[in-house]
Amino acid sequence: MGQKDDARALTSRRTLQPFLAKGFFMSSDTMERVMARFLITSALPYINGVKHLGNLAGSLLPADIHARFRRQTGHEVLFLCGTDEHGTPAEFAAHAEGLPVADYCDRQHALQADIYRRFGLSFDHFSRTSGPANHALTQEIFRRLDAAGWIEERVLRQAYSPHEGRFLPDRYVVGICPFCRNTDARGDQCESCTRLLDPADLIAPRSAISGTHDIEFRETRHLFLRQSAFQDRLRRWIVGQRDWPPLVRSIALKWLDEGLRDRCITRDLSWGVPVPRPGFEDKVFYVWFDAPIGYIAAAVEWATAAPDRDWRKWWQGGEQVRYVQFLAKDNVPFHTVSFPVTLLGCGLPLKLPDIIKGFNWLTFEGGKFSTSARRGIFTDAALRALPADTWRWWLAANAPEGADCDFTVERFVAGINKDLADTFGNLVNRCLSLVAQRFGGAVPCGGTPGPAEEDVGRRLAICFDHLRRHHEALEFRKAANEVRAIWRLGNAYLAAQAPWATLKDDPLRAAVAVRTGVNLIRAAALAAWPFIPATAATVLESVGEASAALSWPNDGETILTSIPGGRRISVPPLLFPKITAADVTGP
Ligand code: MF3
Ligand code: ZN
Repeated sequence: MGQKDDARALTSRRTLQPFLAKGFFMSSDTMERVMARFLITSALPYINGVKHLGNLAGSLLPADIHARFRRQTGHEVLFLCGTDEHGTPAEFAAHAEGLPVADYCDRQHALQADIYRRFGLSFDHFSRTSGPANHALTQEIFRRLDAAGWIEERVLRQAYSPHEGRFLPDRYVVGICPFCRNTDARGDQCESCTRLLDPADLIAPRSAISGTHDIEFRETRHLFLRQSAFQDRLRRWIVGQRDWPPLVRSIALKWLDEGLRDRCITRDLSWGVPVPRPGFEDKVFYVWFDAPIGYIAAAVEWATAAPDRDWRKWWQGGEQVRYVQFLAKDNVPFHTVSFPVTLLGCGLPLKLPDIIKGFNWLTFEGGKFSTSARRGIFTDAALRALPADTWRWWLAANAPEGADCDFTVERFVAGINKDLADTFGNLVNRCLSLVAQRFGGAVPCGGTPGPAEEDVGRRLAICFDHLRRHHEALEFRKAANEVRAIWRLGNAYLAAQAPWATLKDDPLRAAVAVRTGVNLIRAAALAAWPFIPATAATVLESVGEASAALSWPNDGETILTSIPGGRRISVPPLLFPKITAADVTGP
């Protein structure tokens, strides 16, 4: 019996009973809704400084929204992330701040973790690749790859700076491009003519670190992962992934079409995971070798915090676990090719990703966001300017999914005012103020729902059905559109019923409309919760539904009657005051 059959057997009787009793047909869709546990990871943000909004939009935020949606629909979720801390950029950033690299990483990790907490990112654990769990696991996986024959030793010639006493990574050797004569070409690529280079191609090479021209090429031994041997296995796997977004599939297949090359997984550096092999004492693993192993190490760390947690239940959970990865498009090759080779080659029964959701770029006012040039809006500054939910909403509703998306202050201000102030905020504040002012703060009783309520209930149920499908398909813009449609539905219903106008002549009709309105607010907040959790929680609390955040409305009938007449409510402060460009960019 294979893993699939095990899973079927498990779901056969007890779990299926309620569905069979109701006469539901068990489609594979429904299967997933009933049984799957969701392992969710976001690409691990690099440690060298606070990230910009593009980093948030292209992996962290959508991963959080999906994790929240899955929890809301009753799935068990393990949502993991952490900082990616090794490599030369970390060393240089630490050097620039005059700190030992370990101290620099401690500080930056705490800083990023705090920012993500304030953004409402609901990680079950936020780990560090420099931690002992990742070191141990990386070395263990390496040993297994080695034992299985996938590691090969090769001798390379690399730039060495006697002045600095170190080998120079390719991109830190600069010089004159032999093709276009650009004087600042990097050893890996000339940015001027885009040609890929080898540091030895450069004319008059110098160190980008100290500027010294005293550079020699020395022989150094390195370890290669024999990726080329996995070409066919990987192609079969990727071709079989019919659910992957086209962006991810096409990038992955392009890499395979170009032919997989064996990959050097060691570096002549001191900061990183030490290579456990005699003769390699002064080397560490390449950062892209240990970073994705950090996803697994995060689960191991998470599990050590409580006795009832088992990381294997997730990483070795077979088909009962759906593993969903979120990342930006430049990360696709590492997640579709390199990391899978590591996983397949090590021989442990670890999960490969079931879905890889890749994102295009968020651009800023027509150009690139740039960490090095400090161009764009950074996550710490964003939180100083406006509440997290404001950013979350716009970035999700405008997710760079099908194509790149341009952030402009003008579009942002217009979108926030329209969706959050005029639509969601208006629905909540208007209806709840009416309850406070005209009904003494309690949801009015009496009256009988009629065709108008039936109609809005039916429409709402359809919206929630669409919303659920868009979430399941990881279509964030469409999901946000549907949330917006739910908010609008509430406003349209109240505008048509105008309880403030019928109050005198037909108080029972007004009571039904207001009561339905309060229930529409509850539904609006539940739909909003994965996107703008802090605001949704405030709204749910004010209608006495604080514990409902983690539930999904069931069907159109109960959705508009779950808050009964007589319930006391409070009016939250104005949810979303209108904003202007000055609120975004500061005075
Ligand atoms: N730090 C990388 C980046 O910012 C992403 C690492 S993802 C992981 O592009 F898989 F390696 F963890
Ligand atoms: Zn050039």
